[in-house]
Amino acid sequence: MESIKIIATGRALPKKIVSNDALCETVDSSDEWIRTRTGILQRYCCESETCLDLAEAAAQKALEKAGIDRNQIGVIVVATTTPTYAFPSMACMLQQRLGAGEEMLAFDINAACSGFLYGLEICKSLLHSSKKKYALLVGSEELSRILDYEDRSTCVLFGDGAAAAVLTLSEGIFYHRAWARGNDEALVCEGVGYPNPKLKMQGNAVFRFAVTVIQQAVEQILQDANLQMDDVDYVICHQANSRIIEHVRKKYPGQEEKFVMNIDRYANTSAASIPLVLDELFENGMLKEGMKVICVGFGAGFTWSSTLFSI
Ligand code: UT7
Repeated sequence: MESIKIIATGRALPKKIVSNDALCETVDSSDEWIRTRTGILQRYCCESETCLDLAEAAAQKALEKAGIDRNQIGVIVVATTTPTYAFPSMACMLQQRLGAGEEMLAFDINAACSGFLYGLEICKSLLHSSKKKYALLVGSEELSRILDYEDRSTCVLFGDGAAAAVLTLSEGIFYHRAWARGNDEALVCEGVGYPNPKLKMQGNAVFRFAVTVIQQAVEQILQDANLQMDDVDYVICHQANSRIIEHVRKKYPGQEEKFVMNIDRYANTSAASIPLVLDELFENGMLKEGMKVICVGFGAGFTWSSTLFSI
């Protein structure tokens, strides 16, 4: 079947690392609470870097590894909830910063923490009708900009970062599902120009939503592909809370190791979280040709999505 192949990935993080202890100097929380309730040990936070800078740096790394002709990029999609500008889009700015040709579709998408998976399907569809061979998909976030540092129930949970993937069409396995359910109470941030555009979340409601839909999404995508968990090499869930992932992986006894986690080092980076895991797996040589990976994203919207593809 027609699939989308990840040719190369890259990531970029701000220089500044903020440990739980450092954060708790100004926030009424503790390393112990954050570690045990979320699995987070530290997060990266932008100081001089912008979300666009991170997106560019991640994309440059992915493109250097891919070694492709930048004039052959027909699509740039940036998945983000924290774009540097309302307009122009970060994707359009990347066209210029990366020295790619002008004939392309370049735009940002907001599907919150499901953005990278929505983006995979969008890139696949658009490449299908493109004259050019490659798409560049980036998840980039500067969530520190929209956090209320007086709200301990949210500000300890999120971090900044970006990761990018260079994509092309190829033969292989690619199954994709996506869902949307409008809800602006559980997780919301007002837009540019409103008086207080800060992230607000009812953590418990999001937690309950997440554990329900992740398992459903995994089961549905396995069914679509006519595969069992035994056939899959890795399950990459959006990294929002280690307890959410623990909850789901317990349902697959003997296969817990397949559920990858890196939330300890990055916290929740929304649209960047899934590609950050992918990039680390590639870097560590853990993803080999022919392996099968399930990714599951979930977040504000609500949006959620699952993808099963071969490497
Ligand atoms: O990317 C998209 C999505 N986001 C998520 O998926 C997040 C999903 N939700 C969660 O991860 C969890 O619900 C949280 C980590 C946000 C909260 O964990 P929880 O175990 O559900 O805690 P809770 O909200 O039930 O709060 C328990 C207690 C409360 O105190 P009381 O009322 O029991 O006295 C909170 O005030 O923990 C308190 N608390 C904190 N204490 C120390 C909340 N935040 C903190 C904090 N430090 N940072």
